Amino acid sequence: MEYFISDNIAKINCLIGTEIKKLISEKPNAVLGFATGSTPLGAYKELINLYKKSEIDFSEVITFNLDEYVGLEQTDPNSYRYFMDYNLFNHINIPKKNTHVPNGCAADLQHECIEYENMIKKAGGVDLQILGIGHNGHIGFNEPGTPFNSITHVVDLDERTRKANSRFFSTVDEVPGRAISMGIKTIMMSRKIILIVFGEDKADIIKEALTGKITEQVPASVLQLHPNVSVYMDDKAASKL
Ligand code: PGA
Repeated sequence: MEYFISDNIAKINCLIGTEIKKLISEKPNAVLGFATGSTPLGAYKELINLYKKSEIDFSEVITFNLDEYVGLEQTDPNSYRYFMDYNLFNHINIPKKNTHVPNGCAADLQHECIEYENMIKKAGGVDLQILGIGHNGHIGFNEPGTPFNSITHVVDLDERTRKANSRFFSTVDEVPGRAISMGIKTIMMSRKIILIVFGEDKADIIKEALTGKITEQVPASVLQLHPNVSVYMDDKAASKL
């Protein structure tokens, strides 16, 4: 596991952008795994900057997002499809058909999960997956207790996760109770993982995840078993390591 720790978040986002730029220059049809949440927003801004400076061409890139709420239409500003379009895809030259976010409004959610997993396989697997971490150690929407051998599945969201994400909704009751998420095994099959962690409020969980026991109770602890993880952290998140 490689660590990049800095008190300069702009510099961290720049390094992440450079790593993605290098991958796409070597493999123009790279498969990228994207995450939502506040953490990767700066890195997405950096990708937009690099595109505007003609330093990255996304025309052949394929993307798969980690997760999506069940029951939110793609046009709902709180859906993860909307988030990705608004914060990244609408600003770069990626064909929309190359961008994949699970359909949380599918009539048959189980079928949607199987199809999503198959699409990732058909694309050749994820070359580089961006991850954040939840305060309970979740990765994607894989909450504590999710089996390490899980593939894309429907999950019941933890109350803590719903509360954390309620900052984007008017009330916590509006936060959907379920989501579709890539499983832990799906994530672990990515050839490279970039884990981004910012803020003092993540210091305890990241310490537990990266240096504690490997356990399904702390989903991110599985990353200790992955051969190719880079952890990008600010000094506050790294303060207890
Ligand atoms: P955040 O979410 O980036 O908004 O902190 C991370 C996560 O819950 O995975």
